[in-house]
Amino acid sequence: MTNLNDPDPRPNGAGVDGKSLPHGHLPVMLDEVLEAVNPSEGETIIDATAGRGGHAVELARRIAPNGTLILLDLDPGNLTYASDRVRDETGLDPISIQGSFASVGRELRARTLQADGLIADLGFASNQLEEAERGLSFGREGPLDMRLDPGSPLKASDLLASLSEDELTDLIRRFGEDPAARRIARKIVANRAEKPILDTAHLARLVCEAYGSRTREARLHPATRTFQALRIAVNDELGALEALLEEIERTARHLATGSTGWLRPGARLAIIGFHSLEDRLVKQAFARMDDKGWLKDRARKPLTPTQAEVRSNSRARSAKLRSATVGTPRN
Ligand SMILES: C[S@@+](CC[C@H](N)C(=O)[O-])C[C@H]1O[C@@H](n2cnc3c(N)ncnc32)[C@H](O)[C@@H]1O
Repeated sequence: MTNLNDPDPRPNGAGVDGKSLPHGHLPVMLDEVLEAVNPSEGETIIDATAGRGGHAVELARRIAPNGTLILLDLDPGNLTYASDRVRDETGLDPISIQGSFASVGRELRARTLQADGLIADLGFASNQLEEAERGLSFGREGPLDMRLDPGSPLKASDLLASLSEDELTDLIRRFGEDPAARRIARKIVANRAEKPILDTAHLARLVCEAYGSRTREARLHPATRTFQALRIAVNDELGALEALLEEIERTARHLATGSTGWLRPGARLAIIGFHSLEDRLVKQAFARMDDKGWLKDRARKPLTPTQAEVRSNSRARSAKLRSATVGTPRN
């Protein structure tokens, strides 16, 4: 599986160390996103994954002074950072919503808002990877938490303590696509009986033990896929993405039948995925809507970052941007 959100902070230097980056994160494919969303003065635009505000600030500049920017993020710290940054750098006061983009439709309906564009830049930001206490990186010693929303109930250590060997195998296979899933799960279950698995170093060591002599041959650190799988499960990343795509699809259907929704006819969508599980969901949903005639301007192939961007920001290397326009614009 192609994997940009590779929780290994060590290789590739530039762009990996969130602490050394301006604002803790570099926005990926910024020019391409702006071209796809094409925001203009006075419009209402949603940044469904505000992060450190890299995309949000540039969107805000283009819709200010009369536009409305709606920011969402699971992580209250990043949401506050992004909204403060937008306010400081552009003078625009965004609407900030802490929560999952899964409920973006409900949030907009509750405020009787309709958007002209939406961007979702999936996964996690570099600053989150760097914060050892989040436990997202096997290269940083910390508790096995992994929650992007600190208010959500389940930590990675809870899953490691409670899932059966079969369930762990399934989780690591489905969300990490790791061929060694069964061996890793068996190792976890055997080990947790002696000592609860509560920190990143402990889990990384167990995965290396499960890989055994194969550790040396592995192209990625053996723990990469297990950490990714746990992160996806803890934050219900694919469930949230499916819910977002269903909300978009429902609105597109309403627009096609002449009714209204939380997206305006002609709304532009841009979604950046970083691994094949995400990109597949976006690709399939866009293709379904296109087949029904609910989308325009859908490129069949996703856009990828330029070589220059990948050289200056290694986190961009697996990005895939899919964009399309919903319904027809009202002139
Ligand atoms: C790749 S970062 C976005 C970076 C941002 N575009 C920037 O330029 O700074 C992804 C952000 O999405 C947030 N996130 C992940 N899953 C989410 C979800 N289901 N709903 C809302 N935000 C989510 C993460 O907490 C993180 O801050």
